[in-house]
Amino acid sequence: MNITSQNVINVQKINTSKITDVDFNNLVFGREFSDHMFECDFIDGAWQNPTIKPYGPMLIEPAAKVFHYGQAVFEGMKAYKDQAGEVFLFRPDQNLERINKSSKRLAIPEFPAELFQEALHTILNMDRDWVKPGLGNSLYIRPFVIATQNGVSASPSDRYKFMIILSPAQAYYTGDVKVVIAEKFSRAADGGVGAAKAAGNYAAQFYPTNLAKEKGYQQVIWTDANDHKYLEEAGTMNVFFRINDTLVTAPNNDRILDGITRKSVIQLAKDAGINLEVRRVLIDEIVTAAKDGTLKEIFGSGTAAVISPVSAFNYQDTEYAIQKQEDSYATRFKSALMDIQYNNAPDLHGWRVKV
Ligand SMILES: Cc1ncc(COP(=O)(O)O)c(C=O)c1O
Repeated sequence: MNITSQNVINVQKINTSKITDVDFNNLVFGREFSDHMFECDFIDGAWQNPTIKPYGPMLIEPAAKVFHYGQAVFEGMKAYKDQAGEVFLFRPDQNLERINKSSKRLAIPEFPAELFQEALHTILNMDRDWVKPGLGNSLYIRPFVIATQNGVSASPSDRYKFMIILSPAQAYYTGDVKVVIAEKFSRAADGGVGAAKAAGNYAAQFYPTNLAKEKGYQQVIWTDANDHKYLEEAGTMNVFFRINDTLVTAPNNDRILDGITRKSVIQLAKDAGINLEVRRVLIDEIVTAAKDGTLKEIFGSGTAAVISPVSAFNYQDTEYAIQKQEDSYATRFKSALMDIQYNNAPDLHGWRVKV
């Protein structure tokens, strides 16, 4: 691991907080940022000069490789505040592990675990007031790495910037989500970068998702790139299907992002004794289940929305509606997860980390 002896964080505080300018009751997701940001440069083979400073624009030359070859990875995580004003993270070790896995796939040097932890805790303590209490409120945390070496030759950068920015958030989605099942476009292919949280994966989804939006759907459920026969995941969520009382989700592979909410739902399902199958899910099977009434629920899992119930899906230009369940798994998992995140329930698996 490239860690230097210089990993003492240099802290430059803002003079006046801009928090009073922000309307916390009308937040648009990802638009406002807190007072501070963290940055650390990879130069001469080592991560150095870790700094927390006022959030603001930075100077990068147009020739920086990130602009030309998309050598960039990121993470998405949240800080939550309980009634007593304590701030918590949810499984932050998993985000560090995943950003380093993503980095490795994009030939970016890994970031040291200790420094990541220290940076997170320091900046969150400085910007603590930006984490508002109340279920659904959170401070969204966006760690990311970009290639900053100047030069337009198609080769990995020898300089990088690791940054953390923070954005106050309310509940992400309002209402249920309608999805289109991908029949032509693909998000990821075998051997590609689907399992990495690579910036380019998201850019590639925008056009097909816009087409879905034009038809009145919010998201696309991606299918395998070979035959478009198996359901994989949504744009920013993993996907679960409830057939009768059995919960089914696709296994991880190199096309799917290994979601932290997904693995938590799987654990909670096991804890609750729910019959769970982690296996490939054929579209035909879901269409048949929708027709014969055995498809009880589809829901997405992800940090931003926690759990998003899907109210209908479109496949081959036919819309299949999913009736609301009284005993909804989606609702159960959402409250169980939020209870852990907001310190309202015992943390049986050691997922909650106090800041
Ligand atoms: C493509 C994709 N799948 C799944 C997820 C859900 O992952 P997590 O539960 O770790 O937020 C995300 C969000 O990070 C994502 O971008």
